[in-house]
Amino acid sequence: VNSLGINVDIISEAQPFESQVHHLLSKQWTAGPVINGVALFDDLFQANDVHIETITAPYDRRIQVGSVAFASQAHVTAAITGAEAAFPAWQQTPVTEKAAMLEKLADLLEQHLAEFTALCHQEAGKTIHDSIDEVREAVDFCRYYAKQAQQLTPQTLTSFDGVTRTSTRQGRGVFVCISPWNFPLAIFLGQISAALVAGNTVVAKPAEQTSLIAARAVDLMAEAGFPAGVIQYLPGRGTDIGHALTSHPAIAGVAFTGSTPTAQRINITLASRTAKPVPFIAETGGQNAMIVDSTALPEQVVRDVIRSAFASAGQRCSALRVLFIQQDIAERVITLIKGAMEELNVGLPYLHQTDVGPVIDSNAKQKLLTHIEHMSQTQRKVAQLPLSRACAEGDFVPPTAFEIDDISCLTQEHFGPILHIVRFKASELAQVVERINQTGFGLTMGIHSRNETTYRWIEQHARVGNCYINRDQVGAVVGVQPFGGQGLSGTGPKAGGPHYLYRFTEQHVTEQAV
Ligand code: NAD
Ligand code: ALA
Repeated sequence: VNSLGINVDIISEAQPFESQVHHLLSKQWTAGPVINGVALFDDLFQANDVHIETITAPYDRRIQVGSVAFASQAHVTAAITGAEAAFPAWQQTPVTEKAAMLEKLADLLEQHLAEFTALCHQEAGKTIHDSIDEVREAVDFCRYYAKQAQQLTPQTLTSFDGVTRTSTRQGRGVFVCISPWNFPLAIFLGQISAALVAGNTVVAKPAEQTSLIAARAVDLMAEAGFPAGVIQYLPGRGTDIGHALTSHPAIAGVAFTGSTPTAQRINITLASRTAKPVPFIAETGGQNAMIVDSTALPEQVVRDVIRSAFASAGQRCSALRVLFIQQDIAERVITLIKGAMEELNVGLPYLHQTDVGPVIDSNAKQKLLTHIEHMSQTQRKVAQLPLSRACAEGDFVPPTAFEIDDISCLTQEHFGPILHIVRFKASELAQVVERINQTGFGLTMGIHSRNETTYRWIEQHARVGNCYINRDQVGAVVGVQPFGGQGLSGTGPKAGGPHYLYRFTEQHVTEQAV
């Protein structure tokens, strides 16, 4: 029975999905480090020297969602030692057994859809649509990497010399997986499931903002049969435990998804280690553009701009930040965008009518509002939605669009519902692509054009990881659109693609002479 007097555990199977979710909105959740299969929250809650973080809902900070005991440096050492000890047995476990555990985890995630939907509303401020997508993507990662694990069984290599060689792939050791809050289940489990099925043991650090969601996923991993020690869970601030994790001499690799500056810091830490060099998989931020020429269909452009810039409150790495529109149709398209923005409903994430929810925390809100303030003084504001009273107690940022002089006035990623628009002349197309490339980021690009010569030329010259023509530019599907960036946007290999698992393995080639 929770603090509101509601019995949160009695939820009938027959209850419709929506009422299951609503029932769970008042549940209180807890999380703490899980080391060698032992969940430490209760012990740590009693201790004096442990940081217990109170989690509140991004859409209304008066609502308490739960508590998290953050891991200390001593937990980092214990987790890495435990993962090292678990590695030999896990490495010997047949890949088919590991894949079966991932399939079981996917089944459990599907069975817990209502619970994760509620947690996504409460801890991450995700809308209904985004919460369901979140769970579906996590399921897709588990099932896709379970299937891809077939690649890791021994292969026979044949060559022109007639000699047969065998190639085997094995896990590297202890992989550190560090994930962001904007895909708190999908990316958290995407990294872990790949590392585990490839034969590594894992120390997982979720984003501090979304430790509760990650903790429930780790509970389900135990239920799915992953042995204690194979997955070590360490909630905590990156600034507190990140360095201890990535500088530890016993780790065999780091899989990171998050901002570019954090990736750069980790890269420096990894480079300064005197222990063996280890692989660093980094998927980072973007300054994503869309280019629209005068042959584009305006209504379709507007639909795809609105989704790309404002869905998920603009908190997708793939989201559209800078829209380049050819002068000839700019006025018409900007008027339509303004009209479409006015139809957006900004509000509470668990309501059906909500299109745009809150941003993740007050820090993110403050940074975005500062950017809006700066842009309002130096550039032309095209549209800004007023926030309703329902948003008064949460971390909401009004969806806003500016016309700006050029992409070069944006020196960093602005991770929220803010669209920047630049007009260009037909003769300037090559310069537009060059200026986008000069940002150094290279994650997604959208192109709207009916002229095949134009869109092929742009696609060939843009240095981006994922390019979308005549559609929106968010929502890559696992196994369908392998996802990841270039340059400042990431190292590859692409998540949800056929080469991802290899990076988590070491390859041995054996040749036997007759
Ligand atoms: P962030 O860089 O602030 O944090 C990401 C993770 O790194 C968190 O778990 C954080 O605790 C940890 N961390 C922070 N400092 C660390 C340190 N010194 N050492 C080790 N770990 C440290 O990013 P965020 O705000 O959580 O996520 C949003 C960012 O992630 C955006 O830039 C977005 O573009 C990017 N992102 C990229 C992709 C992609 O696939 N390319 C996907 C999702 C999000
Ligand atoms: N894979 C996510 C998207 O494409 C980040 O939006």
